[in-house]
Amino acid sequence: MTRVEIDGVERAYGAVKVLKGIHLDIEPGEFVVLLGPSGCGKSTLLASIAGLDPVQGGEIRFDGRDVARDEPSDREIGMVFQSYALYPTMTVRKNMSFALRVAGMAKPEIDERVNWAAGVLQIEPLLERKPAALSGGQRQRVAIGRALVRKAKVFLFDEPLSNLDAKLRGEMRAEIKALHEKLQTTFIYVTHDQIEAMTLATRIAVMSGGEIQQFGTPDEIYRFPQTRFVADFIGAPSMNFVDAVLRVEGGRASLEMGQVRVELDDYAFAAPPRDGQPVIFGTRPERITLQGDPSPGAIPARVTGVEPMGADTLVWLDTDGHRWSARVSPEEANALGREVHARPDPQGISLFEPESERRL
Ligand SMILES: Nc1ncnc2c1ncn2[C@@H]1O[C@H](COP(=O)(O)OP(=O)(O)OP(=O)(O)O)[C@@H](O)[C@H]1O
Ligand SMILES: [Mg+2]
Repeated sequence: MTRVEIDGVERAYGAVKVLKGIHLDIEPGEFVVLLGPSGCGKSTLLASIAGLDPVQGGEIRFDGRDVARDEPSDREIGMVFQSYALYPTMTVRKNMSFALRVAGMAKPEIDERVNWAAGVLQIEPLLERKPAALSGGQRQRVAIGRALVRKAKVFLFDEPLSNLDAKLRGEMRAEIKALHEKLQTTFIYVTHDQIEAMTLATRIAVMSGGEIQQFGTPDEIYRFPQTRFVADFIGAPSMNFVDAVLRVEGGRASLEMGQVRVELDDYAFAAPPRDGQPVIFGTRPERITLQGDPSPGAIPARVTGVEPMGADTLVWLDTDGHRWSARVSPEEANALGREVHARPDPQGISLFEPESERRL
């Protein structure tokens, strides 16, 4: 198990900074997911760790040793890409053993490793086939096998499942998770799919514009987003936001939105709240209860759309010009009229500072 420390890594193309001093301390055996929108620098960071893309500043340490200027082949990494890039004329066995043969490894050792990897991935019956005779999921398994045979210290994955259909993606996701549990090796995995990130990661690094916005467990990222960007990016539909003002009276904080007051007795402020302070109030769709009648802490809203999803129903709302969504049970949704009151759960509130967009 290898500790990976990414310490101030920078990369620019001309004047455009693509990685702006990235810091990540990855524990031995972790499954870290790099998550973020297209173009935020995920693949560039992964390629820097692999040694496929030169870093221009900072260090990348494997167990304390800086490898940032080492050749890719000296880094003891295994990498799996989005496109499987299998050699079409070679059998699965030859594809998996290719790098080992190039490295001059003895045949018995090669056979042992290929058989081991094929066993782990349950592709033994496919070893003598060529890639054209494999399904998408089987090809991706071979691509993973090719990385596995290197017995790497760190495995790197760049969107390995994005070419697969939804059902297969779900199955392969479970297999990759099981693989990590079996190998206990450090995994770093790039995706822009938040479900993949939430289900696989021990910790998620949310990136945007070449920076890490937050590095935390899936639960921390979901429940305590440290920036408005993270709050907005994670969750579907995304968090509901509205501008509000803080009130602090007699040591108790509350939130003022027009006529509505929401008590904040349970909110863990990062810094003491100030009376009159403007804030962005955020609440997730599943943290809202809808009622017909007004009550303290409930925001008047008009229903603009209802989307039954099976297990629950999404209700789209207009709250004084803001588009909100609430996730409620089908029974609750059926009972609603057009005018409702949306009551946020005090335990599920996020507050952000409007200027910095950082969590309060
Ligand atoms: N060779 C290059 N020359 C100039 N700019 C580049 C080059 N390669 C990447 N970039 C830019 O660097 C930024 C980060 O690219 P990167 O491929 O790391 O993004 P990503 O987060 O992996 O996105 P995606 O989810 O679309 O794969 C992008 O804005 C991209 O346009
Ligand atoms: Mg990419």
